[in-house]
Amino acid sequence: MNQPVMEGLRLNVPAYVKHQRLIAWVAEVAALTQAKDVYWCDGSEEEYDRLCAQLVAAGTFKKLNPALRPNSYLACSDPSDVARVEDRTYICSAKKEDAGPTNNWMDPAEMRTLLQTGDKALFKGAMAGRTLYVVPFSMGPIGSPIAHIGIELSDSPYVAVNMRTMTRMGRAVLDVLGQDGTFVPCVHTVGAPLQAGQADVKWPCNQTKYIVHFPETREIWSYGSGYGGNALLGKKCFALRIASTMGRADSQGPSGSPGWLAEHMLILGVTSPAGKKYHFAAAFPSACGKTNFSMLIPPAAFDGWKVTTIGDDIAWIKPGTDGRLYAINPEAGYFGVAPGTNTLTNFNCMASLNQNVIFTNVGLTDDGDVWWEGMTDTPPAHLIDWQGKDWTPAIAKETGAKAAHPNARFTVSAINNPALDADWDNPAGVPIDAFIFGGRRSTTVPLVTEARDWVEGVYMAATMGSETTAAAAGQQGVVRRDPFAMLPFMGYNMSDYFQHWLDMGKKLQALCATSGAKLPAIYCVNWFRKGADGKFVWPGYGENMRVLKWMLDRVEGTGQGEEHAFGVTPRYQDINWQGLNFSQEQFNITTHIDKAAWAVEMGLHEELFAQLAYHLPAELPATKAKIEARLAAE
Ligand code: GTP
Ligand code: SPV
Ligand code: MN
Repeated sequence: MNQPVMEGLRLNVPAYVKHQRLIAWVAEVAALTQAKDVYWCDGSEEEYDRLCAQLVAAGTFKKLNPALRPNSYLACSDPSDVARVEDRTYICSAKKEDAGPTNNWMDPAEMRTLLQTGDKALFKGAMAGRTLYVVPFSMGPIGSPIAHIGIELSDSPYVAVNMRTMTRMGRAVLDVLGQDGTFVPCVHTVGAPLQAGQADVKWPCNQTKYIVHFPETREIWSYGSGYGGNALLGKKCFALRIASTMGRADSQGPSGSPGWLAEHMLILGVTSPAGKKYHFAAAFPSACGKTNFSMLIPPAAFDGWKVTTIGDDIAWIKPGTDGRLYAINPEAGYFGVAPGTNTLTNFNCMASLNQNVIFTNVGLTDDGDVWWEGMTDTPPAHLIDWQGKDWTPAIAKETGAKAAHPNARFTVSAINNPALDADWDNPAGVPIDAFIFGGRRSTTVPLVTEARDWVEGVYMAATMGSETTAAAAGQQGVVRRDPFAMLPFMGYNMSDYFQHWLDMGKKLQALCATSGAKLPAIYCVNWFRKGADGKFVWPGYGENMRVLKWMLDRVEGTGQGEEHAFGVTPRYQDINWQGLNFSQEQFNITTHIDKAAWAVEMGLHEELFAQLAYHLPAELPATKAKIEARLAAE
């Protein structure tokens, strides 16, 4: 009974798997994709080592010098498969308006024909010649009431080993699932079937790519890419796109539950010298500073202050009965940007990378270690770049060739992080004192602004703009609206999401009225403003502690600031500058509000609201009108 044989294919179901629906689904997908073989991941270290050795033998991985980087590997992808593909990402809700104007949409039936059932359906035979890995994973601590389980079926062993680091993966998850537990089915293929006798390539993938979500049935189907968020389906596909729909659906049911939030946010703890602890959740778009901010080391002037990491990319946030919001990090590892990371700007991150790391698309030094742009001031005299070519500083100067791809990443377990918060996997989560929203803007947006209330904060987050980065395929450095840093990760209609945030605020307010708790404060920041010389004016990284401290003072009710059209900002004297040479003049450049630039900016808010007109909460245009009236009066 436990060992069905499909067209000669053994499913190899381990005896501990008791979930008949799961077994039937694996059999169905194996038959559809014509996988050669099925392997059930148990999540053990022995298995990880074995799969890594297999990846080395296949040429996908290079083992790094164990004396310099113990138990670590380098993978270099196909140059066509280096980042998330937003134009290939679909939300296939039954109704188009439920995906909303910011998502690609296709009718679910049409998409199923294309992927699964049509004559030329992409998944038909897609895994021929390959092993199908069954990857059971838990987002959140295994068995905890806030966790959700997914099962990824993938023909990529690279995905299997990365999922072990990024999630709680393996047999323990199936034990929790029991005979009929609920899971989100995630099917992934690199879309590169092998004919009998055909040799494999180092990084199989397909020019055709589809990253597809069916929110109503809570399914994920991903075709053609082996990279990052396209392929590690627990991350953006599940923990953001599907989870965001789950969190809102909970608020729509008969239970009266306020629902919850799935956000592209880091979570950090900050402890004062007196031992008082605060928690911040901060949303920045991809490659705009979450990992760095979550591992911040305060400057010497902040002796006794400590920042600790709960999460670096995703937060699931639920209201408690006391009206406070409690956040957990559903992940177990970091899939972080390598370029720009060094011991001066992010010591904790570099320390996390000392061992047990998978690097993707960085340079390989002659002594078998890794290097990327910005790691050291002096580059190695020679290395092999991410595309396998000889690289020297002279070649780089002449051709612009990069040692590492700008979206090169590391995969590492959270437990490697020296600044890991003691509560990082506490199922109860940590109570959030403030939210921060930050875009990458070389102009216009000031260093920090405090929203006067929840609605103004939602407005700030909803209208946030940011310059595009290498984390997604396509043009870089183009300002676009990225509401809540969730533009690429929303599982439903963006306007309905704004409404969910506004409704959440009202429900929290009601609960807080009884408990005496305070709603989280909301801030908007910009670390990336540039001066006339084209360089960042704000030193950023650890120095961001100065801004964080001002926010804390405001939360405590002691911090001073100045009110203007958009909210409250610190004056020069409201920030502790001890140990940093940062003049009033430089400060003015980072905080200046240019009226002409803001007139253009408000026009972009208007365009966004026009695009999102369907279901757009009336509070948002009303807030805009208030800001404009204030601007005109100033
Ligand atoms: P995803 O993993 O893509 O969601 O990105 P992330 O938000 O975690 O971004 P990350 O912290 O990895 O930063 C991306 C890039 O921004 C790196 O090259 C960093 O060096 C740079 N960066 C981070 N923080 C700062 C800052 O405070 N100032 C400046 N100038 N650059 C920063
Ligand atoms: C992002 O792009 O925001 C990431 C990397 O965190 S990926 O997992 O590839 O989406
Ligand atoms: Mn991210």
